[in-house]
Amino acid sequence: METVVSSAVDQAAALLSAGQVVAIPTETVYGLAANALDEAAVQKVFQLKQRPLSDPLIVHVRDSEALANLGIEVPYWAVQLMEKFWPGPLTLLVPRSERIPSVVTAGLPRVAVRAPAHPLLQALLEKVPFPLAAPSANPFGRTSPTTPAHVYAYFAGQIPFILDGGPCLHGLESTIVGEEEGRFVLYRPGAVPREALEEVLGERLVVRSSSSVPHSPGQFPRHYAPTKPLLYGWETPPDEPSASLVYFTPPAQPPDHPYLHVLSPSGRFEEAAARLYDTILRCQAEPTDFILVQRLPVTGLGEAVHDRLRRAAAQALFLFNHPLEWAALAHLLRRYEIQALLDLRRQTMSRRYPHLAQGPLQKWLAEMGIFYEWQPAMNRILSPLQRLRREYAHIALFCADTEAHKCALQELVARLESEGYTLLRVAPEGRLYLHQVSASLRGEPT
Ligand code: TXA
Ligand code: MG
Repeated sequence: METVVSSAVDQAAALLSAGQVVAIPTETVYGLAANALDEAAVQKVFQLKQRPLSDPLIVHVRDSEALANLGIEVPYWAVQLMEKFWPGPLTLLVPRSERIPSVVTAGLPRVAVRAPAHPLLQALLEKVPFPLAAPSANPFGRTSPTTPAHVYAYFAGQIPFILDGGPCLHGLESTIVGEEEGRFVLYRPGAVPREALEEVLGERLVVRSSSSVPHSPGQFPRHYAPTKPLLYGWETPPDEPSASLVYFTPPAQPPDHPYLHVLSPSGRFEEAAARLYDTILRCQAEPTDFILVQRLPVTGLGEAVHDRLRRAAAQALFLFNHPLEWAALAHLLRRYEIQALLDLRRQTMSRRYPHLAQGPLQKWLAEMGIFYEWQPAMNRILSPLQRLRREYAHIALFCADTEAHKCALQELVARLESEGYTLLRVAPEGRLYLHQVSASLRGEPT
């Protein structure tokens, strides 16, 4: 199938009317659209995205009047928000009507609706007599597209048409809000900052994930994820030759690094949001093994950018398995901004390395502000890890290579990888390596 990229609204309208799936521009991200009232067309969207049918779609309408035509009754709080923020990047969860096929809402009692502001999409919605069900135009779990080229890279040959509306203004999905038992809930932070909504509602928004899929911390569902591990939350991303580095604002002393990115040269959240997905996709294309992203402040629009990066991030664990002099170890702990250390050694190496014996090690770490825990039983490490992860972003696993104290490293790595963790080996010279189960450990430098 040929994929046409064009700004011809008529052509997009004709294809949609014929039950086809078409990529559409919005002011947030590109969407993969179908006639929301045509169940078979909506099914195609799920198939193309490889999205589970349990994850509902947003219905895009021209304006609030279009909702009345669909038999959707809009509660007063939603009317207030629509008056202020529509057309725009705000999605509201309102009671579903019979006219909305249940495949769109995944059988849930509410439907997500939004009136997009992009002029080309508004023109398209005027041309077709139905609303558009559209998720972001990326394969399930991957980084959202903000340009026609991004969509093309994902879906060329699979969809007939990409409506070219240029790069997206906000670059970040809509904010999703709803009401539950008299409380207003923020299901997804997005392009409309929470503070602006709270001002209209006159109430604080409660935070809750819109995902109905239950999950344990070890299997946190990843979204917006690039194809290589992204590690988010650095104060200063370490200058790793095998990584792409992403700063929020320009560093005072920029490292001499070939793959250095700055989200916002001017230090504004709007700019960082608009460039976020494009930057991640660029990093993905670079010849690097991982992406290290500096932490953003969590206020205003920063909340939504922070949320996406957190979800895109791998569940990384830093693996230390070399006996080191204290100064060298402390240097590495600082470089990788380690906050907690889980000691997996069955015996501690007190004779040759007295500073690595449990007591002294714990004391030194405490002085550095690093939490210490000991768990030498391999079959018991998952629950302490989950607990530590709730509190600490950078966790080190402490192993030993020496024969007498060996951790069953191969087994450990396989077990943690099957739980969804990404292991990064910290080499003694201060470099990060992606640890692969399949790679043999023998013959490695110690
Ligand atoms: O900015 C946006 O909202 C973009 C553009 C294309 O409009 N769309 C978008 O769609 O981000 P998507 O499918 O990638 O994310 C929609 C989110 C999902 O997390 C879904 O679970 C939630 O909205 N959602 C949709 N309908 C829902 C419903 N009826 N109840 C609860 N959550 C719902
Ligand atoms: Mg999406």
